[in-house]
Amino acid sequence: MKFYQLPPEERRQFLQEDGVALEDIPAADLARLDEMSENVVGEVKFPLSCLTSALVNGKNWRIPMTTEEASVVAAANHGMSVFAKAGGVKATSQRDGIYGQIVLEVTEAFSLADFKNKFPAYIKEANKEFASLIRHGGGLKDLTARQEADLVYLLALVDPAEAMGANKTNAILEFLAQKMLAFPGVEAKLFAILSNYPSQLTTAKVAIPVSLLSKKGDLAEGREVAKKMALLAKIGSSDPYRAVTNNKGIMNGVDAVMLATGNDYRAVEAACHAYAAKSGEYRSLSSWKLEGENLLGQVTLPLALGVVGGSISSRPDIRQSYAILGKIKAAELAELTASVALANNFAALNAISTKGIQAGHMRLQSRNVVQTLPAAAEEKEAVYQMMISQGKYGETAAKNFLKELRGQ
Ligand code: MEV
Repeated sequence: MKFYQLPPEERRQFLQEDGVALEDIPAADLARLDEMSENVVGEVKFPLSCLTSALVNGKNWRIPMTTEEASVVAAANHGMSVFAKAGGVKATSQRDGIYGQIVLEVTEAFSLADFKNKFPAYIKEANKEFASLIRHGGGLKDLTARQEADLVYLLALVDPAEAMGANKTNAILEFLAQKMLAFPGVEAKLFAILSNYPSQLTTAKVAIPVSLLSKKGDLAEGREVAKKMALLAKIGSSDPYRAVTNNKGIMNGVDAVMLATGNDYRAVEAACHAYAAKSGEYRSLSSWKLEGENLLGQVTLPLALGVVGGSISSRPDIRQSYAILGKIKAAELAELTASVALANNFAALNAISTKGIQAGHMRLQSRNVVQTLPAAAEEKEAVYQMMISQGKYGETAAKNFLKELRGQ
């Protein structure tokens, strides 16, 4: 039998007999994970964290986040708490739909004008076939087409209602493509698949009084910090080396919410980076500027996410996140995600403009480093304190501190 055909226990045994050390895993968990993917041999665990004071559109939300990067939740927390003091985030989303693409091979007998005349009929037929999507408030909204030589490029816009909509969109596209094969001059379907091109745009905005950017509430000091943050943001709007790092910080927040809520973070990543390059040059997804005594921040992101469908309801770990969020619509989850993204971005720019990013990062990273020491819990805590107080954060420093502690 091939590796993928083996039961997961036998896959594990195969690796173990080859000297691979695997973590123990309860049989029921292994069976559940085996349903989710192929070639499963174990589990990789991530922490589930919760932001508790996210003020978005006048409501206090709890937001689940999942990430292995030590500083991401702390950054989101910091950003969100400053935003809350400033009156919270205002976020809006346009859930117009996601794109699907069909490319057809055509002959000289094909007429694009006649084909386009049939679009209302195709839309009607598809929406009749996928009536359950219409009942949920979605459906096929639009079809457009262009022709290049013997290829016709069709774009479909599908409103997936509360779901991300990849599977439904693919099913609609296959249905349409089959119908279109009967159109005069259509020779073959080259492909029919959803496009992750940016859509479902969500914007989050904040206005932060500059006094909140100074620990002492000092206006002049706050204004200086705001100026530096705005300059850093401006650099990200023209320099791709900074833009990509700025956007990485934004995606720290986005991916953490996407992972916690069982969403396709790869699709969202691909769309966000395409959106960042929409001018033809890769740019920051966010903007920050000083206006009067306020620092104004804004981010717009394509967030094709859902709150139903996919593996969301079948995964107990993901259901916890929805229990944290409470009843939520896809548009609201998108608005929370964009707000977290802006909070992460704010915290990064703020740290870089003041004390620098390394100090905070390394403090958090030291927690991970001490965990690798072969030492008792009290010793690890003592080593951690020594690392922080002496500003030495590496593995070698941790080992040396442990030796020092033990008088070796
Ligand atoms: C680190 O994960 C993210 C940052 O580099 C983002 C940024 O520089 O804006 C801190």
